[in-house]
Amino acid sequence: MISLNIEKTFGFISKEKVFAYEAQVKAAQEALENGTGKGNDFLGWLHLPSSITKEHLADLKATAQVLRDNCEVVVVAGIGGSYLGARAVIEALSNSFTWLQDKKTAPVILYAGHNIGEDYLYELIEYLKDKKFGVINISKSGATTETALAFRLLKKQCEDQRGKDMAKKVIVAITDAKKGAARVTADNEGYRSFIIPDNVGGRFSVLTPVGLLPIAVAGFDIEKLVAGAVAMEKACGKDVPFAQNPAAIYAATRNELYKNGEKIEILVNFNPKLHYVSEWWKQLYGESEGKENKGIFPAAVDFSTDLHSMGQWIQEGERTIYETVISVEKVNHKLEVPSDAQNLDGLNFLAGKRVDEVNKMAELGAQLAHVDGGVPNMRIVIPALNEDSIGGLLYFFEIACGISGYILGVNPFNQPGVEAYKKNMFALLNKPGYEEESKAIRARL
Ligand code: PA5
Repeated sequence: MISLNIEKTFGFISKEKVFAYEAQVKAAQEALENGTGKGNDFLGWLHLPSSITKEHLADLKATAQVLRDNCEVVVVAGIGGSYLGARAVIEALSNSFTWLQDKKTAPVILYAGHNIGEDYLYELIEYLKDKKFGVINISKSGATTETALAFRLLKKQCEDQRGKDMAKKVIVAITDAKKGAARVTADNEGYRSFIIPDNVGGRFSVLTPVGLLPIAVAGFDIEKLVAGAVAMEKACGKDVPFAQNPAAIYAATRNELYKNGEKIEILVNFNPKLHYVSEWWKQLYGESEGKENKGIFPAAVDFSTDLHSMGQWIQEGERTIYETVISVEKVNHKLEVPSDAQNLDGLNFLAGKRVDEVNKMAELGAQLAHVDGGVPNMRIVIPALNEDSIGGLLYFFEIACGISGYILGVNPFNQPGVEAYKKNMFALLNKPGYEEESKAIRARL
């Protein structure tokens, strides 16, 4: 089970002040539970883990198996909330070199629709030319330009390469039940499709088919992932006393730090596989809280590599930051530092030690150094990089985000700010219906 330690924030904020949030946290929990807060039509994620049925998981697994049986590569097309959750889990659980290995136990998972890089898409298409590939097209609105553009290319290539019948088998849509272009295409073409519930926003959708299908295709146990989330749903429930509820404490602490002038939260990992968990977390908190000219700026670093770059800023830059470290208690493999007769590198003092022991001392050393340098530090410990822990971690961050956003006083479940660039882009591209905007924006150039 996940644990949270906030002791190393107490030189900067007081325990009393954190615990003084108890009533606000309670109010936030009640508002979430009773659906009386802002954005209450997007609370479908709240009890999602415990409402997922065995039949639903079996259905997802059966579709995943079709893709696994018929594809060397599966491209997951999606952006933001329709992409980051799946990637976060898959990268956290995958062998780092999986896709370079000759003998594969699962299709290689690649991603598209999350950028508009012509070279990226060209190179992807080139790579796929001699591959048996399938596509999972994920878009709740079914109208996201990046994803729709990538899917148009991939659909054509898949049909050209594999024939219409096979394409129908290996293209799966995850989208709205009724509306949007992705739904129309899926229905017209006869693709297998899954629904993204209306009341679950993109960044909270990792435990819907949006995340679960790609994760199952990659060969990971979605039952265990969901079980981990269910356990965390209980551990962070509204009836769990404040002091024992990690999500409540995390939400309270980060709000108190923010009030204290720590405007930037840096999520830290000491395991490269967690890079995309941080990317997912950045979206979750950035899109949920960054509005009405307020909100903690969510940043992330991968240590120890970034200790050799951003470490300087963290140690001695402007004191407006705090760190939240995700620490993995137990690694999955064993590797000892070998002894060397010549000891030219001077590393014999480490001989016989586990590599992870060195990593853990880097973690502890960095924590103490950064606290000494004026950076408050929280620590989230997860038992291991496995489905259970990651499922728990995802739900922990989601529920804490809902509570934290309500404490901040914003609607954590909308994202009005992401429309501004789209309007300008469509106007600049002369999209039909944007004639007035086109004229206006061109006058500004
Ligand atoms: O969290 C969000 O709402 C966004 O990140 C969306 O998920 C993202 O823009 C993709 O939208 P859609 O699933 O409609 O293509």
